[in-house]
Amino acid sequence: MKKISVKASKPYEVLIEQGILSRCGKLVSEVTKTRFAALVTDDTVDSLYSGKVIGSLEEAGFRVVKFVFKSGEKSKCSETLNRIYSFLAENSITRSDCLIALGGGVVGDITGYAAATYLRGLAYIQIPTTLLAQIDSSVGGKTAIDLPCGKNLVGAFKQPELVICDPLTLKTLSPEIVSDGMAEAIKYGMIRSRELFDIIASHTIDDYFDDIDDIIFRCVSIKRDVVENDEFDKGERMLLNFGHTMGHAIESFFHYETYTHGNAVAAGMHIITEQAVKHSECKAEALEALDRVITSYRLPLNTEAKISDLIPLCANDKKCESSSINAIICSDIGTSSIKKMPFEEFRAYMEA
Ligand SMILES: NC(=O)c1ccc[n+]([C@@H]2O[C@H](COP(=O)([O-])OP(=O)(O)OC[C@H]3O[C@@H](n4cnc5c(N)ncnc54)[C@H](O)[C@@H]3O)[C@@H](O)[C@H]2O)c1
Ligand SMILES: [Zn+2]
Repeated sequence: MKKISVKASKPYEVLIEQGILSRCGKLVSEVTKTRFAALVTDDTVDSLYSGKVIGSLEEAGFRVVKFVFKSGEKSKCSETLNRIYSFLAENSITRSDCLIALGGGVVGDITGYAAATYLRGLAYIQIPTTLLAQIDSSVGGKTAIDLPCGKNLVGAFKQPELVICDPLTLKTLSPEIVSDGMAEAIKYGMIRSRELFDIIASHTIDDYFDDIDDIIFRCVSIKRDVVENDEFDKGERMLLNFGHTMGHAIESFFHYETYTHGNAVAAGMHIITEQAVKHSECKAEALEALDRVITSYRLPLNTEAKISDLIPLCANDKKCESSSINAIICSDIGTSSIKKMPFEEFRAYMEA
């Protein structure tokens, strides 16, 4: 088993092991005194993994109640959240009990937010089942729901008690969903680790699983380091937004329908790095290597949208400070920095 200790405002561990799901009950029992848990999941994950997880929890002495919602981003909303609150109340969940998020980033985000707010906060455990959730959303304590006018607009920082990653769950994902998560793995390599980048680049979407435990371990370690230095997203954590300013603009330009998050981030990483090369701030070989790896995971380098149409949408990115943009630039593979630019300078930089 690989283990990563996160020393955030509340310390916790991320455990990575193929097959760990079947003994999650014992692991959960070690981080909580309660033997009453509310499992939250979506209908797709429910049919695949709830049985195994609930079986293991019951074996460890837990009584488990289960809330299932329809899979998909549309469910990450106040209506589902209210149904979760009602379910917790109906089942007399108390502050000393715990929630368990079994699923992708949607399940993790909404369950984490319910845990941050119900009864002013109770413990929760993450059991992420997508690559994106295993390497990104389950670690770091950002929880949220979407509003009709924008994504992740209501949320809280709430660290989990434990994160249990079973890479075997990735075997039931479609290649498109794996690729989507792999865009974030490529991002970690670009901002912090040439070694990680090289491991990812030595595979394609067809054989990525051969090194998956190592890839997850390295990605989570990078996220851990960044989050430990900047838990509340005031500085260094912005590096995790590499490819995201343009990525969010792409998602929004196409009304969140054409490009998934990972696809938009892949194109975003290419677009910003291409500009960095033009401004002699990045090596041309780094861009070539980035493009090769993006392509080998069947992710896009660009979109049909014009840069001039995307730039105004970058200003609406909630992660930008009023009139300036924190652009994340990689000067080489594994090396990144934050370049704060007034919005008009960013426009000129991107249109050069
Ligand atoms: N909190 C954070 O720091 C953070 C970071 C990045 C992304 N996010 C959020 O994460 C969400 C995206 O997460 P996601 O990509 O995991 O999406 P998701 O949770 O919607 O999962 C994608 C699809 O895969 C299905 N699925 C999940 N696990 C499966 C498995 N093992 N086998 C088969 N199907 C499975 C789900 O039912 C869903 O249909 C977004 O809402 C995003 O805002 C949060
Ligand atoms: Zn992302």
